[in-house]
Amino acid sequence: MKPLRVALLGCGTVGTEVVRLLDEQADDLAARVGAPLELAGVAVRRLDRAREHVAPELVTTDAMSLVTRDDVDLVVEVIGGIEPARSLILAAMKTGKSVVTANKALLAEDGATIFAAAREYGADLYYEAAVAGAIPLLRPLRESLVGDHVHKVLGIVNGTTNYILDQMDTHGASFTDALEEAQSLGYAEADPTADVEGFDAAAKAAILAQLAFHTPVTAADVHREGITEVTAADVAGAKAMDSVVKLLAICERIPDPDGRNGGRGVSVRVYPAMIPRSHPLASVREAYNAVFVEARSAGSLMFYGAGAGGAPTASAVLGDLVAVARNRVGGTRGPVEVTYAELPVLPMGET
Ligand code: HSE
Repeated sequence: MKPLRVALLGCGTVGTEVVRLLDEQADDLAARVGAPLELAGVAVRRLDRAREHVAPELVTTDAMSLVTRDDVDLVVEVIGGIEPARSLILAAMKTGKSVVTANKALLAEDGATIFAAAREYGADLYYEAAVAGAIPLLRPLRESLVGDHVHKVLGIVNGTTNYILDQMDTHGASFTDALEEAQSLGYAEADPTADVEGFDAAAKAAILAQLAFHTPVTAADVHREGITEVTAADVAGAKAMDSVVKLLAICERIPDPDGRNGGRGVSVRVYPAMIPRSHPLASVREAYNAVFVEARSAGSLMFYGAGAGGAPTASAVLGDLVAVARNRVGGTRGPVEVTYAELPVLPMGET
């Protein structure tokens, strides 16, 4: 079978791991897909760094030319951020490529444009790695639970802040010391604002709410509080009450008193909350994530695992890559996002 050619956009921690796995697992992946996956090119911002596992002739700074090339079938975007990622994904879809992205910021800010383009161009679009790293969560919401009526998604979706709060709980560490440790272990970014101020969790909550409730939700709609104000005394106080402090993301469908099926609206919020030590979320330690989904027929489901890091995120990317490649071989495509419900996102206090 003719190889499927992959363009990789971005070669940081996750991209490097994707390249390594494509090489190391080449035979297995070819068998699972029904065609070999071949790296066609890797777009990077700067050429002056040697990249392990990447042949130098494959590396380019011209990402737009790479994604629109005729010999590319599949595009993997792990650059992050809004631009140039959005333009590259749109160009890829317009020129007939299948797209895998880990870009939570883009999907949370302008998912509507990306989903509309996927529909317009008939493009395959998968983005499991955008939320909760290795944990299969988006595909269950997009596929397995799409026939159910989800009314709540609740959990810990940021590994860095969970690590910090866990250190504060376990060792009585201050926020600053715990953050420094998270940085030294590579969990937190050098600029940890997105994690500790809750922006990362808010973007993930927006994506989860869109999928769960089939309604447009952007990161700006999410009520957001970070953990920078949480003190060692707060955590000790919670401990004295046999509780822990966790940064929770909560997406809820607010029932309608008139019984309308879709509900009166949705509430999406991220904030540090005290939860009893007996609650399953209290036992989520270090940089792990855990998410509960509550649905009318399925009942309560719990998803747990590594939510951050190069290898876990690359696992999700590779899973999506195999999915789009298989679809291509089979002449089909995966789920199409439809946000039809138009439920209002209710401000805090109106729920
Ligand atoms: N900074 C994120 C986290 C990475 O700590 O969860 C994964 O999105």
